[in-house]
Parts: sequence; C-alpha cells; structure tokens
Amino acid sequence: MPFGYIKTDYNIRCIYKDGKWGELEISSSEYIDIHIAATGLHYGQEAFEGLKAYLGRDGKIRLFRWEENAKRMISSAEGIKMAIFPFEKFREALFKVISLNKRFVPPHGSGATLYVRPLLYGSGPEVGVKPSHEYTFIIFVTPVGPYFKGGIKPVNMMICRDFDRAAPLGTGIYKVGGNYAASMRAIEAAHEGGYSNIIFLDAKEKKYIDECGPANFYGIKDNTYITPKSESILNSITNMSLIQIAESMGMKTERRKIPVEELSSFGEAGACGTAAVISPIAKIFDPEKNQIYEYCKGGEPGMLTMKLYNKLVAIQNGDESDPYGWVTILD
Ligand SMILES: Cc1ncc(COP(=O)(O)O)c(C=O)c1O
Repeated sequence: MPFGYIKTDYNIRCIYKDGKWGELEISSSEYIDIHIAATGLHYGQEAFEGLKAYLGRDGKIRLFRWEENAKRMISSAEGIKMAIFPFEKFREALFKVISLNKRFVPPHGSGATLYVRPLLYGSGPEVGVKPSHEYTFIIFVTPVGPYFKGGIKPVNMMICRDFDRAAPLGTGIYKVGGNYAASMRAIEAAHEGGYSNIIFLDAKEKKYIDECGPANFYGIKDNTYITPKSESILNSITNMSLIQIAESMGMKTERRKIPVEELSSFGEAGACGTAAVISPIAKIFDPEKNQIYEYCKGGEPGMLTMKLYNKLVAIQNGDESDPYGWVTILD
C-alpha cells in the first residue's frame, strides 16, 4: 500500500451559504463542481488538515488528538478570512466519515492507517480580491501505507536559503494551501540534489531553523529536546505531543530560536509530523557553508529519538495506555 490516494466509499461535505452552515451531506463522488470564479481557486482561500485513524489490537478505531486539528482549522480559517467550521460539526463530520469507511481502516500492526483529510475553501464567486460569501467543507479519507517501508529510516536534508516558505507576519502559522505551493520549488530542489527534504530558515534573517518541509524540526543535546520558536511555522500536534512525552521521560525541553550553527552541537535531530511521526535526520547539508552536520552515526536513529517515537506510536495505536487523554475511541 503506497503513501498515496486510494478511493474509498464516501466523503462528507457541508456548504456555507447566506451566513450559515447547512446539513452534512454524504457523497460517493470523488469530484466537486466548483464555480469558475471561486476564491479558493483564484486567491488561495483554502485550508486543510491531516490526521490518522488507527485500528487497535482490540479491533477499535482510534483517533489521535482530533480536537487539536479542529482547533487548528478554525485558526487557519480565521487567518485567511474564511467562514469558521464549528468544532462540534467538525466532530460530527469526522466520526461519520470514518464510520462510513470503516472497512478501509488498515489492520493493527501493519503500520498502515486511515489518513483523514478535512479541507475548507472559498467556493463562492468573487472577481475582486475579497473573502468569499460561500464556503465548502469536505472530509475525505484514504488508507495509507507506513511512511517508512521496512521500518523507521534516517534521512538527509538540505538547508535552503534561496526560497522562503513563509514570512514572519505571513501565513506560515496556518495550514493553508498557499504555504505548500510556496514550498514546492525548494522541496523539488532538495529532491533533485538527492535529499529527502529541505530545512527552511527564518525568512527575515536567515539565521534560525524554521521547519523541515511539512514537518517541525527538533534537536537533542544533553538530554534536552530543543525545537524552534518561530512566527512562521505550523504548530505541529506531533511536536506538542513529543514535548510532553520527553518531559515525562525526564528530559528537559526548550522551545526557542535555534541558530544554524547550533546544528553542530546536537547529538540527534529529527523532523516530526503526522505522516512519519518522526523522520530521524542522518545528515544536514548547508550548501552556502559547504558543511555537513551528521547525526545517526552508524546509520541508526539515536536512542532518545527511538524512545520518543516508540512511545508516541504505542499510544496512537492503543498498544500502551494513554495517560494524556489524547486518544478518542470511536464507538
Ligand atoms: C508545514 C507543516 N509543519 C508541520 C507539520 C506537522 O504537523 P502535525 O504534527 O500536526 O501533523 C505539518 C503537517 O501537518 C506541516 O504541514
């Protein structure tokens, strides 16, 4: 099973019109009919989310911190002046679309999961640059294979100074499509150079680590988990969770600016997000300084990275108890 799109039975939709949201509608079509002047097409009024449903050993379907995704989508909508999709309605749509597609939730222990993709876009027509009066909310699901086939594997990354993904007072803190369009030149340049992803620096000074493509960065030194504080990165739910787990394991944690030079002092480094949970970083190449920062000597992820990864994955899959109340079991 690839980490890609596979058709499922149903998706769920809802339309905002005349100042209010309508009823949830179930659809079996993979297509949408969209106005040629929709603001989502022309002016990037679009936001999305990504979360996963896991099948436990007990046969029950689990969702991980879906409330944080619902809240982040509200914040993204506010950030680009879209109608807010209400929290309670998000819950209803999410639970409904998963239960309608139960047969696509991959088996426990396979490493595969049901990926859940909510999206919201301006669907009403405008020609001038202004927010739409109409919005469409959709959730579709698709089963995805494990991010790393054959187990978690360290990756190489490249520092980017030629392109910015987001500006400090821009939209980087929101999960809006435009940020991803803005990141593609850099990500493709990294792929062409043989790197799995790019590390963006802060757009203003190009001094500090921002994000690793579509994932947050962390470094570990002296039992301290350090992750960037920045006005232009997405607040990763995986990162928030790893911080809590690290603290419960007796590690110290810091969220602060990370200067590029500090990369040489980390013993371990990784990129974290829903897709891979953690991608341990083997090497970071800085083309301007022609310098390589190396972690994972011997090709293996670091010990603390593996402890954090194993704990979080065990909670998500329901293999270990969930002392944080992060997991919701679907009835
Ligand atoms: C830009 C960006 N940063 C970080 C993340 C990781 O966030 P999360 O852990 O909530 O998936 C994502 C993925 O959602 C992302 O797109």
